Amino acid sequence: MASVVIVGAQWGDEGKGKVVDLYTEFADIVVRYSGGSNAGHTLVVDGQKLVTHLVPSGVVRAGKKCVLGDGMVIEPEVLLKEIRELKGKGLLQSDADLLVSARAHVILPYHKEIDALREEGKGALGTTKRGIGPAYEAKAGRRGIRAGDLLREGRLRELLTRNLEELNPYVERLGGTAFALEPLLAEALAAGAELKRYLADTSRYLYRAHKSGRDILFEGAQGTLLDVDHGTYPYVTSASTVAAGACSGSGLGPTTIDAVIGICKAYTTRVGGGPFPTELKGAMDARLRRTGEEFGATTGRPRRTGWLDVAALRYAVRVNGLSGLAMTKLDVLRGVSPIKVCVGYRVGGKPQDEIPLDPEDIVQAEPIYEDLEGFAEEIQSKREFDDLPAGARRFVRRVEALAETPIYLISVGPSRSETIVLRNPFRG
Ligand code: IMP
Repeated sequence: MASVVIVGAQWGDEGKGKVVDLYTEFADIVVRYSGGSNAGHTLVVDGQKLVTHLVPSGVVRAGKKCVLGDGMVIEPEVLLKEIRELKGKGLLQSDADLLVSARAHVILPYHKEIDALREEGKGALGTTKRGIGPAYEAKAGRRGIRAGDLLREGRLRELLTRNLEELNPYVERLGGTAFALEPLLAEALAAGAELKRYLADTSRYLYRAHKSGRDILFEGAQGTLLDVDHGTYPYVTSASTVAAGACSGSGLGPTTIDAVIGICKAYTTRVGGGPFPTELKGAMDARLRRTGEEFGATTGRPRRTGWLDVAALRYAVRVNGLSGLAMTKLDVLRGVSPIKVCVGYRVGGKPQDEIPLDPEDIVQAEPIYEDLEGFAEEIQSKREFDDLPAGARRFVRRVEALAETPIYLISVGPSRSETIVLRNPFRG
């Protein structure tokens, strides 16, 4: 029996969907614990591509329980649409396989509108405009609306009235149109009626499942450097994306977690605004974006690309307590030589071995690179580490040594089968 947390070790889009899908084979339950439909987890199974935004990627394997935990912010319409689409594809055959926390907060149209209007203004952060920030603001401000509230008309009316009184003038100040109560209320109640069958006390469910020996996989969203406490603030999302968030966002305590795996690409990408010390410009940037198909799964935005930043990885190892790393997209680096790896920075002339998070330090941080010889051979067909070309093996081992963390898995292509497994966190 094991509980394993998967987190992004960079700025999101590390390929968590594929790794979660692989590990789901060993889990009974897959849990999302933070964020919402800002995430887009891509899976390729039998040549078919599937992107999930809210339902955990575990849904593609029949009979696995999928949980949307307390720490999430859920847009009811998006969830209902996703459920319909999954069912249309023959997935999620039983409603009993999906449990949505009644304590998860909901994203309502005014949250999305505020997010979008802010992005048109001066303080734009490059958000996904899914209403994530405003929904978490309401939660922290203790005026949020939770999934369970959608079933109680009186309470919902009261909450919506209070929120609209407070937010409508703000919406208008931002250049938007005030929201009317009745249509919002009607829509929210209708969504609640449809969602009712999935709502549960998921914390209690997980506790019992853990006690009875079930294997649990926690599917992190976004990445360590987008964490609201530990990321490149203020260019972050509004949730706890690190491993600790798996506990606070699911209601299962830290002593239940056996392993934490950080997913990292063999290079780095970032979507949206914010500092990115190893960012590439020009031909190499274009090459990585093209070969790695680096376009957002949720927004379609082109991702910024850069060299692998091991100094940032070391930070991810530290704040997540990583047991190991899973490296994705190694195949994308085929033909790139030398492969540069950032091993530290110079900030104001002083060397530093971890990513500086102060907004002024990080923009002037000069990466210190180590050049590694690349590899020219194709690696997509390789299934054993020893069959990889020498350049690829050296790169993986060097990253492992610099990050002081073992690599559990290497992904050499988008499909489930295109993977080299070195260790399995569910098997110790
Ligand atoms: P928000 O989460 O929509 O508020 O966006 C805040 C920041 O997080 C922006 O830079 C987004 O591009 C980034 N972000 C949010 N979700 C993801 C994701 O799933 N992958 C990568 N970046 C994300």
